[in-house]
Amino acid sequence: MKGLNLTLTVLALMALVSCSDTYFKEDKIFAGGVYVTAKQLNDGKSVYTEYCMPCHGVKGDGMGTSAKGLQVPPRNFTLGQYKFGKVVSGELPHDEDFYAIIKKGLNGTAMLPWDLQPQQLFNVVQYIKTFAPQKWEGADKKLGDVIVVGKDPYGTAHEDSAIQRGKEVFHVVAQCWTCHRAYVSHEELSQLSQKINGKPVTEFDPDMYHVKLQPSDYDYSSMPPEYTYDQVRSANTVEELYVRLNAGVGGAAMASWKGVLQDDEIWAVAHYVKYLMDMKRTPGRAKFLNDIELANKK
Ligand code: HEC
Ligand code: HEC
Repeated sequence: MKGLNLTLTVLALMALVSCSDTYFKEDKIFAGGVYVTAKQLNDGKSVYTEYCMPCHGVKGDGMGTSAKGLQVPPRNFTLGQYKFGKVVSGELPHDEDFYAIIKKGLNGTAMLPWDLQPQQLFNVVQYIKTFAPQKWEGADKKLGDVIVVGKDPYGTAHEDSAIQRGKEVFHVVAQCWTCHRAYVSHEELSQLSQKINGKPVTEFDPDMYHVKLQPSDYDYSSMPPEYTYDQVRSANTVEELYVRLNAGVGGAAMASWKGVLQDDEIWAVAHYVKYLMDMKRTPGRAKFLNDIELANKK
């Protein structure tokens, strides 16, 4: 018992010493003119140390003790690069974007939803920025433009035509399947191509029904989701998918589609992805995928 007490005292002292080394003494201004006091940064550090450090690491490099072996590694905050902001990929997200990620978590990853008070959220988000001063510090640094969600031109009333149009965009216009996978038979792909481009497809990529691992700006590759099986991390609704398609996934092969596709095409493909996601864990999924295989064997 005595030994344990001694160990605890030593540990507590070590913690004190190591913390006092790196206490913030000065206020900071971050991108977008966000003013943060030294006290807020110190409070943010406590929240981080208690809840986030096991995964994101003492240095914010994503190498925490609990990060080992995680299939999706925790974010390395020293890069100042983020995947799921509501800004075009590569731009700096707003504090609200971080709050949403922290409060909701990222589906299918170790990043769970956290129940923090507004003040704790503010403080911890500011502290995270201190890991990437090159990106955040200084009044001259700019945040990305927020992606605005306008009116869905389809809505629930025209769901079916949205899904049909989305299928065309997915397979022919944007060819999302080159990284993700195709969800139509050879024959249907050819028909869609005939309709959109005026020519059939005669040669089919043997890999068109597999998702393909993609390089990223992080120190690992990332797998595009198979929507009827994997979890989409940052979106559960058509609106959230619309945001993600406009934003892209920062630092990943999944680029922003804003300005590349027309706005109604992005809405349509968001409806189509949602339709595929809704098949997850339903008996309809196996039939849907089998029917594609059967059609190709004909
Ligand atoms: C159990 C491990 C774990 C803990 C604890 C954890 N995270 Fe995460 N976090 C992750 C993983 C894994 C990812 C990466 C998910 C991905 O790339 O899809 C992540 C990603 C993030 C991101 C990046 C989002 C983006 O858009 O790139 C932020 C911000 C974040 N976490 C904040 C926090 C905060 C704040 C805490 C503490 C309140 C915390 N995390 C605690 C595992 C964790
Ligand atoms: C160049 C390859 C590539 C193309 C083309 C591509 N994606 Fe992706 N996509 C990815 C990768 C890689 C990820 C996983 C990123 C990550 O989480 O690290 C992804 C993720 C996603 C996600 C999940 C986002 C989340 O929150 O988890 C959706 C939805 C998505 N893509 C839809 C599309 C659609 C729709 C198209 C076509 C308009 C498309 N993608 C084209 C590579 C691609």
